[in-house]
Amino acid sequence: MSIEALNQPFTLPSGITVKNRIAKSALSEGIAEANGRPSEALFNLYDQWGKGGAGILFSGNVMVDKAHLVNANVMIAEDDEFLDDFTTLANKAQAHGSHLWMQINHPGRQAPIYLDKAPVSASNVGMPSKLYVQPKPLTEAEIYDLIDRYGTAALIAKKSGMKGAQIHGAHGYLVSQFLSPLTNLRKDKWGGSLENRARFVLEIYRDMRKKVGPDFPLGIKINSADFQRGAFTEEESMEVIQMLDAEGMDLIEVSGGTYERAAMVGTQQKESTKKREAYFMDFIVKVREKIKSPLMLTGGFRTAATMAAAIDNKELDFVGLGRPFCVFPNVAKDLLSGEMTDCTVPDLLTGVDKIDMTGMLQTPWHQFQLVRMGKGLKPDPNMDVWEVYEKVTGRKRPV
Ligand SMILES: Cc1cc2nc3c(=O)[nH]c(=O)nc-3n(C[C@H](O)[C@H](O)[C@H](O)COP(=O)(O)O)c2cc1C
Repeated sequence: MSIEALNQPFTLPSGITVKNRIAKSALSEGIAEANGRPSEALFNLYDQWGKGGAGILFSGNVMVDKAHLVNANVMIAEDDEFLDDFTTLANKAQAHGSHLWMQINHPGRQAPIYLDKAPVSASNVGMPSKLYVQPKPLTEAEIYDLIDRYGTAALIAKKSGMKGAQIHGAHGYLVSQFLSPLTNLRKDKWGGSLENRARFVLEIYRDMRKKVGPDFPLGIKINSADFQRGAFTEEESMEVIQMLDAEGMDLIEVSGGTYERAAMVGTQQKESTKKREAYFMDFIVKVREKIKSPLMLTGGFRTAATMAAAIDNKELDFVGLGRPFCVFPNVAKDLLSGEMTDCTVPDLLTGVDKIDMTGMLQTPWHQFQLVRMGKGLKPDPNMDVWEVYEKVTGRKRPV
């Protein structure tokens, strides 16, 4: 299989051409300044990724409201206060022809207690964990305020010189919470039927489009399914994707799972699915038959051959990679040149089922690599998983 397919430029519906088909999926960096300002560490990180050859670099999720954060030291885009810093970030990331898109998010009920004592959501359905407070249902006025905030963040992305913006509609965050009948029990026009549950995301898209105009690429990352009983299903996801397609999305990225069931990083996926790479491939092939918007698939891609075949077979338009960019900053360039044919990352297994089944070390281990890169250091693929466990939990490793 020739990797040439990955090297083809692609023109999005907005008319913007991306130089190749490899994208860095959003990776929450956790290295912004405490008030959400893009930091020197982020500039260093995106300087390295900017040299790494990706067509698109999606930023880690950027928050629309400083009162509700997904993790500490996350970037915040509420108004023009950090515009110059976002501009510096865009300049670093885009200096070698990659496009930086801002991923825009609100955690809703998935905001940890140490950051959010008064979380909000579609309804008052809490996380099944003491690490989170039960959320308060949003009033209609608050819903409209949030829609406006997503739009404002997209406009900040545009004003900073970034080349696009993406709604984070996946992984159990606020947009996901509105879509799922498990977390959205509302009886008004924002809940109940799928059409009502999808209203929040559609209104966000429309507000963003109104604010940024027709020529600025807008996309979404959405779950193929939540992989939880009673939650957002594949059939529903297919319908919502068709609604988004009808609105004229530039790029729909498919992922899956929530932080209760971390399917996005392969946790609890069948061995056969992991071996075949691309966890949500079966779903995206069905989507492809029904919609015209460009498609991107993220989760599990590791070999150049599989990536190129997916593009060559026209199953999707962009391959998204997450964890490989934490370990191999130049992964796109190296795959495209043929220097690298496989970007498999360490599996981070401790041998303790309770830890391994939840995938709880996946995010922090990879974030620690980003911290290193922010300091100008190279990633350390041999970083000890138990050290990460001890740092994250404050507990000693079991003996
Ligand atoms: C450290 C880390 C941070 C992540 N942060 C985000 C995020 O901010 N937004 C998002 O949509 N996905 C996030 N993800 C999920 C990735 O974008 C991606 O969907 C997932 O890692 C699967 O792709 P992979 O198998 O290529 O790693 C994160 C994953 C990791 C490991």
